[in-house]
Amino acid sequence: MMKQNNNKDFPLSSAVKIIVNGITYFPTASPSTRLLDYLREELKLTGTKEGCGEGECGACMVILDGQAVNSCLVLLGQCHGREVTTIEGINAPELFRAFEKTGAVQCGFCTPGFVVSAYALLQQNPHPTEAEIKEALSGNLCRCTGYKKIVEAVEMAEKRKT
Ligand code: FES
Ligand code: FES
Repeated sequence: MMKQNNNKDFPLSSAVKIIVNGITYFPTASPSTRLLDYLREELKLTGTKEGCGEGECGACMVILDGQAVNSCLVLLGQCHGREVTTIEGINAPELFRAFEKTGAVQCGFCTPGFVVSAYALLQQNPHPTEAEIKEALSGNLCRCTGYKKIVEAVEMAEKRKT
């Protein structure tokens, strides 16, 4: 007898379709796989990092239908028919240059997550205030920089001073 799937947010494996960085995929991974693991293990998009695995650090940040989300908290099945952009799919040279110029990159582990959050912010709000930048980056943790340079980098990219 065919198995019934009663959870609309959790389609059966064969039904999952996901668009990542503009390319449509039909994952072989189970819908209960974390989006983070699918991206890193099946698609080999390793720019998305795992830090805490609990939604606290932002290292795994991706953009899901325009919103920055922690991919460690999202299941593949919840992404059916939706668009994901990872750090590899972000075309924002001014943002990358600004992170470099301000010294916002030290060990670099947190950087993809910060760039994803900053990019999502600038897409929605091209001229954010300092407070809005801080708010948008509040889900990202950095052990090295003290955050000041990261906020400066986003301000620099916003003002196109790079
Ligand atoms: Fe996802 Fe830390 S690994 S928030
Ligand atoms: Fe090292 Fe942020 S640069 S954790």
